[in-house]
Amino acid sequence: MRAVIFGASGLLGRSVMRAFGDMAVTGTAFSRGAGALVAVDATSADAIAGLLGRVRPDVVVSCVGERRPAVWAGAPDRARAVNVDAARLIAEGARRCGARLVHISSDYVFDGTAPPYRPGSAPNPLNAYGRWKLLAEHAVRAACPDAVILRLPVLYGPVRFAAETNLTEIARQVASGAPVELDDVCVRYPTHADEAAEVCRRLAGALLQGQYLGSVVHWSAEQGLTKYGMALLIARRFRLPADHVRAGDADAAAGDRPVDCRLDCQNLPAALGPVRRRLFDIEFPPAVEPWLMPTGPATGRRKDPS
Ligand SMILES: NC(=O)c1ccc[n+]([C@@H]2O[C@H](COP(=O)([O-])OP(=O)(O)OC[C@H]3O[C@@H](n4cnc5c(N)ncnc54)[C@H](OP(=O)(O)O)[C@@H]3O)[C@@H](O)[C@H]2O)c1
Repeated sequence: MRAVIFGASGLLGRSVMRAFGDMAVTGTAFSRGAGALVAVDATSADAIAGLLGRVRPDVVVSCVGERRPAVWAGAPDRARAVNVDAARLIAEGARRCGARLVHISSDYVFDGTAPPYRPGSAPNPLNAYGRWKLLAEHAVRAACPDAVILRLPVLYGPVRFAAETNLTEIARQVASGAPVELDDVCVRYPTHADEAAEVCRRLAGALLQGQYLGSVVHWSAEQGLTKYGMALLIARRFRLPADHVRAGDADAAAGDRPVDCRLDCQNLPAALGPVRRRLFDIEFPPAVEPWLMPTGPATGRRKDPS
């Protein structure tokens, strides 16, 4: 079996590459095209067609996206192209070459006012990123009707730069000792990228066996935490002072961040078999520990992209 993972240089894509290690897997990157990854601009139909024509994959996973507010606020056209146009073009490419498609979407398609959200719950995104992810879902469904859209909450895992996850940014704020206010209203469900990647692999396997799973599925960790709650856990685990960290409501007050997007994913474990649940309390320390020093890890350190 052959798989193509678009966005394989990103946080989730790196985990998905590992999870598909039992297949002949080709990963793509855009700006981080080092090593074995193939450089592909997913906003180019020709680039996508060229790769898919060469590899002829059985399954495609689309992990391309731009979710960092600092980037989408500064370059909205580019961010829209990466979130919406790329999703459509990858879906068109997958359908043309007869591959099954798993497309990654986000809990931000919901407004966070009425959790838990089932796959059929009405979306109502509050910000540009959520609107783009929803437009991408529509485009994927139109271009590749048998694709499966996997909605995920905020992810964490081994990172290459501190701003790659909220969690590592929060760890840096706790470790710095500088006064900071962190939102204690909006609840997130931080899910390990490797767990999400395992779900992707199981979904792909089920699709290749012809199982029908519905066009939208949800996966999420069960433990809900605010940013402030994550900061306290980090401080407690690493015996760091936390008196410089204040509880606030900035994200909720801004009005463009959903308060609680808990995803109902009850139907999925039955369809996929047992997926290894990674408990936040156990998994977060190794993810944040290298980033508690002001300089970050000694090796593999990368300047945070703006
Ligand atoms: N991280 C989360 O908390 C989270 C939560 C829910 C859903 N999601 C969704 O999950 C997916 C993966 O997220 P992530 O956190 O892994 O994102 P990420 O770390 O920012 O990675 C994004 C990937 O997209 C690639 N990319 C960007 N522009 C591209 C272009 N023009 N052509 C081709 N590839 C391009 C990047 O390549 P380069 O880095 O090489 O440029 C990278 O591989 C996204 O769809 C995101 O919306 C993420």
